[in-house]
Amino acid sequence: MTTPLLLDAAGKVAFVTGATGGIGKACVDMFLAAGASVVATGRRAVQSDNPNVLKLALEVTDEVQVTDAIAKTKARFGQIDYLVHMAGMVGKGRLDQMSLADWHTVVDTNLTSAFLLLKHAYPILRKPGASVVLCGSSNGANGGSYLSGAAYASSKAALVNLTRYTAKEWAPERIRVNILSPGPVDTPMLDRLSETQHEGLKAQLPLGKYATAEECAAGVMFLCSPHSASMTGTNMNISSGMVLDR
Ligand SMILES: NC(=O)c1ccc[n+]([C@@H]2O[C@H](COP(=O)([O-])OP(=O)(O)OC[C@H]3O[C@@H](n4cnc5c(N)ncnc54)[C@H](OP(=O)(O)O)[C@@H]3O)[C@@H](O)[C@H]2O)c1
Repeated sequence: MTTPLLLDAAGKVAFVTGATGGIGKACVDMFLAAGASVVATGRRAVQSDNPNVLKLALEVTDEVQVTDAIAKTKARFGQIDYLVHMAGMVGKGRLDQMSLADWHTVVDTNLTSAFLLLKHAYPILRKPGASVVLCGSSNGANGGSYLSGAAYASSKAALVNLTRYTAKEWAPERIRVNILSPGPVDTPMLDRLSETQHEGLKAQLPLGKYATAEECAAGVMFLCSPHSASMTGTNMNISSGMVLDR
């Protein structure tokens, strides 16, 4: 292996959703450090004055906005080498308390968005060496709980199989598709929890610590790098030991 860095991304373009959130922002920062140009998207305004960053507002459930973001990426950079979909949202509460509208919002945000991004990025992604990283969750493996709700656990589990499906379909073109499945990560997504809920969650972690956004971003860099050139359709578990059997 000739690459001393985890990822040498000079001349490459990364398209990152959820760039206004904890893990997405860490991915943007690491891609820039690796030499990539980055399309950083969020619903809120992305904060960056780096000239190698194209900042785009993107509601990931909206097909018109997705196609528009891909068109703007094509116009500015002509290509996508790494598609990293970190945008996501939790639900909450018991299944019998969840409205159909809330179910659809969570499933559309986490799962349907991935379908839209994969479908519309494909024409400018399809080249040997391209890499896609989706974002699952330990909830997708262990069933989750009322803290994030049924739609969250279900959509994150479905993303694992969407990863496998797309990995197989795109493997002949040497496009790799993998998914990162974190347990609790120290980002704004956990701000909704009470002290007691944090203590309960930490007690379920054999390592006794939340993951950091940077640890997750490092996993993404590995999955985009030649170091993982033989990995596709895999589910990277960053759960501090919370999920051990798959
Ligand atoms: N933190 C954890 O404990 C944890 C654990 C397991 C998995 N994850 C997964 O990790 C990923 C990143 O989460 P995070 O921890 O970084 O959370 P975060 O800080 O809350 O960030 C969430 C990101 O998703 C974006 N987003 C949400 N709904 C969107 C929509 N409809 N359209 C466009 N963007 C949308 C947000 O954009 P705006 O803020 O601009 O609206 C924000 O950038 C998510 O997929 C999450 O499910 C997180």
